[in-house]
Amino acid sequence: MTILQELEQTITDMVDDQRGILAADESTPTIKKRFDAINTESTEESRRKYRSWLLSTPDLGDYISGVILFEETLDQNSDDGVLLPQLAWNQKIVPGIKVDKGTALLPGGQGDLITKGLDGLAERLAEYKQKGARFAKWREVYSVSDSNPTPLGISANAEMLARYAAVCQELGIVPIVEPEVLMDGDHTIERFAEVNEAVLAEVFSALRRHHVQLENMILKPSMVLPGKERRRASPEEVAEETLKVFKRTVPAAVPSINFLSGGQTPTEATENLNAINQLKGNAPWQLSISYGRALQQPALQAWCGKDENREAMQQALLKRAQMNSLARKGLYTADKE
Ligand code: 13P
Repeated sequence: MTILQELEQTITDMVDDQRGILAADESTPTIKKRFDAINTESTEESRRKYRSWLLSTPDLGDYISGVILFEETLDQNSDDGVLLPQLAWNQKIVPGIKVDKGTALLPGGQGDLITKGLDGLAERLAEYKQKGARFAKWREVYSVSDSNPTPLGISANAEMLARYAAVCQELGIVPIVEPEVLMDGDHTIERFAEVNEAVLAEVFSALRRHHVQLENMILKPSMVLPGKERRRASPEEVAEETLKVFKRTVPAAVPSINFLSGGQTPTEATENLNAINQLKGNAPWQLSISYGRALQQPALQAWCGKDENREAMQQALLKRAQMNSLARKGLYTADKE
């Protein structure tokens, strides 16, 4: 296969009108926080067990088309000795890999952050590809205040995303481009919309400058929401504001927009996705998920680190995946829970 054919095949395998992406790529400090909350020690073995059980959930491939893994997971095996990227693909879930190296303060950015990890990226990607990864994820983060993100923060972060995406495509790896505007704070939904619009406009301008093929990437953005310290907006309002921003900024060539959950509760994230799909009209892209917490939280709580809860954990994950698949069609209602 040529590089272009590889990219196209991965998009074909990941994008359809009912499935979404599971983000299971928590870094070692982040997964420790998740495990601490259920009184479970985070060790290489407990992480292997948890993630291999997630991926061996029966029928998960009916609702999930891709999984974002963390580096160590690529080399781990299931209980019966199958490498985890292969375990995912056994049920037609495409394995992918988080490749950014976390954030640092952007010099001159008045508190804005910038993501690390471009040095040596091509070499790392080549190695991950050999181990089965067919797509990658890179996340830039933007905090919202009256003065942030700054124009410098917006342009520097967009440049990073575009450079990462261009390297990925050169190697036949589909880039997930993730500009995450954070929910933290007391900003209004209008302010969030203004920031998300400026961020996305700049990201697409940078992607174009770097000759990234929009057909062969996936966008992973935040929904447009009010700050966490404010009262929750109705799903209809979230859908209206979110679609307005995306219609203004995301070219029709992008095949799929897969939202992050960003601290919404699992049901809130499903309700909002459902409202977005109900209101989407003739929007040109798939509107799907790439949820981490909103898919995994109920599974973690059902598991609590105990072997005997394996099935309950898998059921909890499968249920969220099913509910979000209904929401992809705008068919989710609370009584289906
Ligand atoms: P959340 O859905 O928990 O926000 O995680 C998605 C993700 O991958 C953030 O980079």
